[in-house]
Amino acid sequence: MATNVFISHPIPAEVRAYLDDHCRCSAWQGGLPVPRKAILEGVSEAEGLLTVGGRIDDELLDHAPNLRVVSNISVGYDNLDIEALRRRGVIATHTPGVLDETVADLVMTLMLSTARRVPELDALVKSGEWRKGDDRVLYGVDVHHTSLGIIGMGRIGETVARRARMGFGMEVLYHNRRRRPDVEAELGVLYRGIDELLASADFVLLMLPLTPETAGFMGAERFRRMKRSAIFINASRGGTVDEHALVRALEDGEIRAAGLDVYAREPLPGDSPLTRLPQVVTLPHIGSATARTRHAMADLAARNLVAVLSGERPPSPVPELATAEAGND
Ligand code: 8YV
Repeated sequence: MATNVFISHPIPAEVRAYLDDHCRCSAWQGGLPVPRKAILEGVSEAEGLLTVGGRIDDELLDHAPNLRVVSNISVGYDNLDIEALRRRGVIATHTPGVLDETVADLVMTLMLSTARRVPELDALVKSGEWRKGDDRVLYGVDVHHTSLGIIGMGRIGETVARRARMGFGMEVLYHNRRRRPDVEAELGVLYRGIDELLASADFVLLMLPLTPETAGFMGAERFRRMKRSAIFINASRGGTVDEHALVRALEDGEIRAAGLDVYAREPLPGDSPLTRLPQVVTLPHIGSATARTRHAMADLAARNLVAVLSGERPPSPVPELATAEAGND
């Protein structure tokens, strides 16, 4: 007997066809963002939920008495209340691996566009204000042969490190909960304590997942430790940064610039001070957003969902909820 699945976000037709072959699917048909109420109604009979980013907590689980699996179409899973899921024996899965290269491309984009002031210069040309002559006011700083400090050496950090080392001749420092001898050996990256990394890197890249331990990781004290010439990049989660402290560090010239894909509140409110600082490059949480990668993420999420509903081990369970039967053991 087919199992009921609720799909709360648009997915490619081929992925939907795969799910239809295995489950009885219903999907949210309205506009985005999906109203919370629609998800609560959608899950009322579902054994599986395929979703992106919405809060999965006791309230939602109370509406979903039959739920067995939440399949997140994202690598980050800070939207999950892990304890609430654990109490009810609900498995959760995510989509690591398939987006690493795409997100790493975007991180390089942020580094290059902050260092070389791409949005400012683009606006100058398009405004018709570009004049030939002394172009010293348009100077940027180099990326190649500088140093990059990566905080959080997971798969994406490693993929960025490869680009930085091989393509840009950069020195790469990293800080991580556990050392990564494999990456040190392959890429020649150097482990540093957090204070030392902050004090010596020309670019500081934050790639930490958002957890209670990492919330507000970059605060006033840590921005103060950075070089005044350094550029801060965040492509992880907005909650890992104290945004007021970041704005102050930029306004006071404690750091040179920032390249951001993520924010404390998304969408970033139009009146945020970040929107009026020319040395800040702001992107709309778009790290994994190429058609090919988003397709691969939806595909992996669908395979995770079907595996759990078929009683099989899913390809990528959320580690905290993986059991001997259904996940990493
Ligand atoms: C989101 C992401 O999935 O995978 C993640 O953790 O942050 C992104 O890929 C995407 O932005 C959808 O909101």
